Amino acid sequence: MTVVAKDSGLAGRRAVVTGATSGMGAAIARRLAREGARVAMLGRRQQRLDGLVAELGDQHLGLVCDVADIDAVNDAVAVAANRFGGLDLVVTNAGGALLGSIAEGDPHNWKSFIDVNFTGALSCVHSALSHMESPADVVMIGSTSADRPSSFTAVYAGAKAGVQRAAEGLRQELAPKGIRVTLVEPGRVDTEVSEHAIAEPGAVRGSMGSAFTPLAADDIAEVVAVTAGLPVNVCIGRIVVRPVGQIEP
Ligand SMILES: NC(=O)c1ccc[n+]([C@@H]2O[C@H](COP(=O)([O-])OP(=O)(O)OC[C@H]3O[C@@H](n4cnc5c(N)ncnc54)[C@H](OP(=O)(O)O)[C@@H]3O)[C@@H](O)[C@H]2O)c1
Repeated sequence: MTVVAKDSGLAGRRAVVTGATSGMGAAIARRLAREGARVAMLGRRQQRLDGLVAELGDQHLGLVCDVADIDAVNDAVAVAANRFGGLDLVVTNAGGALLGSIAEGDPHNWKSFIDVNFTGALSCVHSALSHMESPADVVMIGSTSADRPSSFTAVYAGAKAGVQRAAEGLRQELAPKGIRVTLVEPGRVDTEVSEHAIAEPGAVRGSMGSAFTPLAADDIAEVVAVTAGLPVNVCIGRIVVRPVGQIEP
């Protein structure tokens, strides 16, 4: 049975969620759909997208899109906006992890990582903005690593710090237009991220320790649903969410 919270502020919203094929993005898409939003889900894995549309209903869209491809992002966002008659919520979540040292790592990897995790996020917002009017939400998923880089997360933390700084610049840019910008910075979340992580020489896996229970993807979906469902004049600019036991990053 689908439970729809009538006063969530999300019913009828027209959303784009990037990186919706697994982890937090899939949880956010499911949560928004459950609250009555229409959701365009972006990702590269067609089969996952088909499965989500079959699960959530064909009022939603699954759009194959590599967020590193700026033209593909523009096209996918336009398809969503045309189908939904505009957009009022975009969640930039697509990304991954890259662990390794600057001395031994491969700059080609860094470039493609930044193309997805930084430029990809901003180009999704750029595309969505041409279809959005106030009131609307931009929710960007960052990382606690932005403020706490380590010797093997310089590139990862640098990209996420870029997202953090860009989100604040964007908040200031969009405030006069009545568009709310929220940065959500998760700590460790139990997703597929480590399966797809780029591990370069110097990478240290499992360095956050295992003495705590990671967040669930649904925990982040809850945070996104709450913030996007707030009264339109209320903006929580930045939310840092860790499992209670996590110390670093
Ligand atoms: N898990 C954590 O502990 C954690 C903590 C802080 C921040 N984060 C960040 O949270 C975001 C979501 O990660 P997750 O933990 O949910 O991991 P995940 O389960 O691996 O999900 C990553 C999502 O990003 C998509 N993606 C990756 N590269 C893409 C590309 N080039 N174009 C389009 N989509 C792409 C993947 O879809 P396809 O493969 O189908 O394209 C997938 O849907 C990432 O930005 C990650 O850096 C994660």
